[in-house]
Amino acid sequence: MPAGGPAAPRGVGAIVVAAGQGHRFGALQPKQFVDLCGMPVLAWSVRTLVDHPDIDRVVVVLAPQRAASPPAWLPDGVLVVPGGVFRADSVRAGAAALAGNVETVLVHDGARPFVSAELVSRVANEARNGPVVPAVAVEDTVKRVDEGGWIQETVPRERLRRVQTPQGFPVEVLRRTHALDDADAWEAQDHAALTDDALLCERLGIDVSTVEGDAANLKITTARDLALARAMVETGLIAAGN
Ligand code: C5P
Repeated sequence: MPAGGPAAPRGVGAIVVAAGQGHRFGALQPKQFVDLCGMPVLAWSVRTLVDHPDIDRVVVVLAPQRAASPPAWLPDGVLVVPGGVFRADSVRAGAAALAGNVETVLVHDGARPFVSAELVSRVANEARNGPVVPAVAVEDTVKRVDEGGWIQETVPRERLRRVQTPQGFPVEVLRRTHALDDADAWEAQDHAALTDDALLCERLGIDVSTVEGDAANLKITTARDLALARAMVETGLIAAGN
């Protein structure tokens, strides 16, 4: 053992959150389990992360019932843990499962099947220095409206970004931010509003950097998104899984 105590854990862990019910999708099963050209939506990103040379451990967070008997198609070596009511609860469960084993964590939404190995590398590299999210420019003209839908102003889009996952964090930053999320100080509506993990850093005043995201890294929310994802595979824009 080196002087000064046990060596700090090295390596990068990935948490794939897939414990949501996906009410907006409108299918019998949550969107992450629907077939996408021969594999469930969730299997695409899990495979990319498991195969990635920079990723040492992969934790998949499933709804408790599913976690109790995980799908056979999950690759060997993937750790499955039960998630919680809100996305942030599921991230916290995944982070606890990685406890002490990695120094950097990538958090990915199971509803984004087309995360590329290049994007994983970009995020993993930057996350060693601090929190980082993939971001893409906004191409539409953006307006702010009032409650009645009347346009109030045009928002300059040069500084606007749409952010994606995987989002990367030094492990202690992720634990610190989510420990705070657990405190009674947070209202229930805050939990529901926690749609990503960078938001917790922003609230604590922790700087978050961006790397270039990927337009193909779409999030499947509606049946139309799934149809688009299928078309991306069928037209060869995305390499088909096997
Ligand atoms: O609902 P939404 O699409 O924003 O969820 C983003 C991701 O978080 C999805 O992959 C979903 O399965 C996951 N999630 C979760 N636990 C929850 C709610 C959402 O793992 N309680």
